[in-house]
Amino acid sequence: MTHLIRQMGYVVIATPDPDGSARDLADMTGVRISRSASDATYVSSNARFCDVAYLRENRRGIRAVGLEAMDEGVVDEVYRRAKSEGLTILADTPLLPKVKRAVRFATPFGPIFEVHTPIARDDLPPASTNGKRVRRLEHVNLRATDPKGFHDLVTRLLGMKLSDRTTNYERAWYRCADGFHHTFACGPGNGMHHYAFDAHGLYDLAGVADALVAKGRSLLWGIGRHGPGNNLFSYYLDPNGCVVEVSFGLERIDNDEIYEPGNWEFNSASNVLDRWGSQPPEAYGKALTPFVM
Ligand SMILES: [Fe+2]
Repeated sequence: MTHLIRQMGYVVIATPDPDGSARDLADMTGVRISRSASDATYVSSNARFCDVAYLRENRRGIRAVGLEAMDEGVVDEVYRRAKSEGLTILADTPLLPKVKRAVRFATPFGPIFEVHTPIARDDLPPASTNGKRVRRLEHVNLRATDPKGFHDLVTRLLGMKLSDRTTNYERAWYRCADGFHHTFACGPGNGMHHYAFDAHGLYDLAGVADALVAKGRSLLWGIGRHGPGNNLFSYYLDPNGCVVEVSFGLERIDNDEIYEPGNWEFNSASNVLDRWGSQPPEAYGKALTPFVM
């Protein structure tokens, strides 16, 4: 199937404290605060205007996961497909400023997506973004009430391609046109488990851990190496209770047409979550942020 999604878009989070949330993410990961308004604060890890938007609301939750469409026509196409699938269309305008077109819809399995035209790029000198800990919003990790139903929907509706999965869809990883191993992953449940940034190097993962310790906090899990995707990982909890992953070295699939998805056993012996053999702590499994409409 032709790709409809070019790359990861943005994550939109409702929180009573947008500024505090943005400052904490900046302290830990080096992202810049790209715009601050009374009702929202936006952060970015590169020239894009926004990777994560924190909207001021009295509740905490995920408003949408943004996916950048190949072009404006795709936004219309996804709108048509979502309608014919009988999905709930939440809006046909973007949640963010500086984004031209979007369609936001709820899946019947929990996750809410916003398929949108490209995010505006700020005109920045290279030195203003190089060398900070992270450089790209990489992926999100979702939970769906029916992971196989979710699989069928995102491959059919969004043209996502399966990169790897476990036997019974306890985890599945999906890629889009940019070829990175996954733009989102999914497992059973309801909500978003984490959002992830790509770091410049392994040392940046140590920098995140050191920054946490300096504030009396610590990593939730890691450093380790994932099976599918082969990336080094570390995780911590942000002030909203969302899990943030800082990752390095995610595999890139350069033979998109002929690649065959892997099928992994999902048990502690298979080391699917950490090739180096560690198991996630209980708090990691329990951390889940709900989607809110
Ligand atoms: Fe992840």
